[in-house]
Amino acid sequence: MSTELEPILVLSTDLPDPEATHRFGVELGRILLSGDTLALIGPLGAGKTHLARGLAAGLEVDPDACLTSPTFTLMAQFPCREGIFYHLDLYRLGHESALWELGFFDVLHAGGVVAVEWWDNFLDTLLPSTLVVRLDLVPERPEARTLGIWTLPADGWEERVRRLRALGLR
Ligand SMILES: Nc1ncnc2c1ncn2[C@@H]1O[C@H](COP(=O)(O)OP(=O)(O)O)[C@@H](O)[C@H]1O
Ligand SMILES: [Mg+2]
Repeated sequence: MSTELEPILVLSTDLPDPEATHRFGVELGRILLSGDTLALIGPLGAGKTHLARGLAAGLEVDPDACLTSPTFTLMAQFPCREGIFYHLDLYRLGHESALWELGFFDVLHAGGVVAVEWWDNFLDTLLPSTLVVRLDLVPERPEARTLGIWTLPADGWEERVRRLRALGLR
């Protein structure tokens, strides 16, 4: 495999409590642009939906909009600064063919910002430009999570993510 296709870790940080995760989501949401796609990955309870609420706030989604886990609805959409914020959860999606029924590929190319929980269940459908945001539990620190952001090299994310680092979030 070409080394150019190896994802690189552009940012990693410790999120000591749920508030830190929310704040990080807000800051990330502020730099998102129409056309961006994000894979929110990590185990159940890692904080993917919690982070997505921060993204929504950073994207100026109406604070009264209720962003719950779309595990059963699969997809929710909210008007935002960049058009539409699409929040999806593919946890219960059985097979890749169901992505077509869901209109997933239309959504990916519709503009707006797309954040997808459990997208890694269908790894080969990630776009080369997708920002991969991974949350993990931390043993013996129930309120803490680790966060890593991965991209393919040279897709324009590094510079933007560097601005997040400059905010002191590392
Ligand atoms: N540092 C943290 N960041 C995010 N969530 C946390 C953190 N510490 C504890 N939590 C809790 O973990 C749970 C995460 O739930 P949720 O966001 O629905 O996870 P997921 O969508 O990954 O399954 C929430 O109840 C949240 O309050
Ligand atoms: Mg969730």
